[in-house]
This record gives sequence, structure tokens and C-alpha cells, in this order.
Amino acid sequence: MKTSLTFLLLATAPHALAEINFTRDVQPILNKNCVACHGGVKEAGGVSFIFRDQVLGKGESGKTVVVPGKPEESEMIARVITDDPDDLMPQPDHGPRLSDADVETLRKWIAEGAEWGEHWSFTAPKIIQLPR
Ligand code: HEC
Repeated sequence: MKTSLTFLLLATAPHALAEINFTRDVQPILNKNCVACHGGVKEAGGVSFIFRDQVLGKGESGKTVVVPGKPEESEMIARVITDDPDDLMPQPDHGPRLSDADVETLRKWIAEGAEWGEHWSFTAPKIIQLPR
């Protein structure tokens, strides 16, 4: 009885923690609002949202774009919630600011570790051969 309860908790916990899927939830926000200036051809401010290692690096300001697990230290979040029109992203003349829901998605994605691509909890479990 005790063992099966432990198993149940272990089996359900990862799904409860990882709610955000990069490809499904985050990439559409970036593609729609950011990639025109940050990715592909243009890398405004030294920032591109195409490759994970660039997103985890620093922009021209020297601030880190995304600090996995720490939305409050991530310049990406600072730039979408600021009230300073000089800093706001997307730039006000380019498009409207992100909805609260979009900001929350980005924030959660970073808080959950800023996984790129399929999160491990969304991929089918593999059978691993244990050493004898
Ligand atoms: C119309 C073009 C444009 C769009 C769209 C845009 N940006 Fe930017 N972004 C810039 C420019 C230009 C800079 C460099 C000047 C500055 O730092 O404000 C910049 C700078 C930044 C920086 C700081 C880089 C540094 O120096 O540390 C971050 C972070 C950033 N953008 C994030 C975003 C995010 C997130 C989005 C989408 C929600 C976005 N941007 C959309 C043009 C854009």
C-alpha cells in the first residue's frame, strides 16, 4: 500500500510541475512579437530568439536575456513588463505590448528552467536497460 502511493506521487509530479511547452506555448509568442527583430537576419541589441544558447547569453547591454529558473533576473521579462517606452519590447511603434497571459507564459517557462524544444515530460518514456 505504501509503495504504490509513493509510485503514484512520483508518476504524477512531473506533469504537475511542467506546464509550459516551448514549441507549443512559447515559440508562437516569440515568432509573432519578437523574431522580426531578434532572429533570422536581424539580431537587434545582440539578441536572437532562434537558438537556446544565444537566449541564455547576454545582449549588448551586458544583461542576460534568460536566466533559467529566474524570471526576475531575465532581461526578456524586464523588457516586456517595463513602463518605460524606451525599453519596452516589442518596441511601441512596432506592435502592442504582450498580453498578461503571454507575459505569464514566458515567466512560467523561465521559472520551469527555460527548456527548449520538447520538454522531457511530454515525450514518451523510454525503456532503459539497467546494467547487470
Ligand atoms: C521592432 C523591432 C523589435 C521587436 C519587435 C522586438 N525588439 Fe527587442 N530590441 C530591439 C532593439 C532595436 C533593441 C536594442 C535597443 C534596446 O536595447 O532597446 C532590442 C533589445 C532587446 C533586449 C535587450 C538586449 C540587451 O542589450 O541586453 C531584449 C531582452 C529584447 N530586445 C527582447 C525582446 C522581446 C522579448 C521581444 C518580443 C516580445 C522583442 N524584443 C521585440 C528591437 C525589437
